[in-house]
Amino acid sequence: MEAVKAENVNIYYDGYIAVENLTFKLEEGETLLLLGPNGAGKTTLLRTLAGFHKEYTGKLFVFGKSPQEVKDFISYVPQSHTLNERVPLTALEVVAMGGIYKKSFIHFKIPNEILKSAEEVLEFVGLRHIMNKPFKELSGGQKQRVLLARALISNPKLLLLDEPLSALDPSARVEVANILSKIKKEKGITMIITTHDVNPLTEIGDKIMLLNKQLVAFGTPEEVLRDEIISRVYGPLSKAIKIGSKLYCIIGDVHIHRGERR
Ligand SMILES: Nc1ncnc2c1ncn2[C@@H]1O[C@H](COP(=O)(O)OP(=O)(O)OP(=O)(O)O)[C@@H](O)[C@H]1O
Ligand SMILES: [Mg+2]
Repeated sequence: MEAVKAENVNIYYDGYIAVENLTFKLEEGETLLLLGPNGAGKTTLLRTLAGFHKEYTGKLFVFGKSPQEVKDFISYVPQSHTLNERVPLTALEVVAMGGIYKKSFIHFKIPNEILKSAEEVLEFVGLRHIMNKPFKELSGGQKQRVLLARALISNPKLLLLDEPLSALDPSARVEVANILSKIKKEKGITMIITTHDVNPLTEIGDKIMLLNKQLVAFGTPEEVLRDEIISRVYGPLSKAIKIGSKLYCIIGDVHIHRGERR
């Protein structure tokens, strides 16, 4: 069964159209990398798939149902995390919160079975050893891995990740990309990941979508990461290059400008 099926979907904010006439399919287990410039509608699409934003027309199915009907199978990690860092939660407690939300009960004390699951998912992301550290003291890469663990604790079938690599330095990006690769290989969860930096993720992307309000391109990395396609969105200086079997993207930016000015 398709994990996601969209047919002629328009997404609105008070009548303003943010995503227009979108049609695509994603099979169960596939990873989709969602690319597009600021304001392209990436977050809007993720929030609509997560069932949070309901102002859309057209056909939109997640595992054959409307997003609202399958909310419990979806984990969404937003673009900017609004964890109040003044609340002194440990990494373990942050992850456990993901288990509590989904069960919709409120406990003053986190139940032991949830703490145990939280420990297991922290182990999965390689952070069991720091589980009792305050969240706010973790590095950017560790924080993002804790948030991935929090999204995993409810055993989702679809994981929606909005810019999980932004605000991370290159080595932390690789660290988080490795965990995403592990989620794909060992858990087989369908993922949609938005990113401005596709390079650390090209290996796990089965499909790439280039969105700029409308669909610009959709296909395998080989099909989409081509000069003539990415330059339609990112300008004429964008290049796709292949080193060995791996594809890289240089999104028309400072590097090339600098080279030309010299
Ligand atoms: N809550 C909102 N109310 C009204 N308009 C919105 C709202 N959120 C987003 N928009 C508009 O919808 C369009 C798409 O925004 P969206 O945040 O989905 O883009 P994005 O691709 O995620 O961009 P970025 O790369 O900056 O995160 C933009 O024109 C934006 O101004
Ligand atoms: Mg966004």
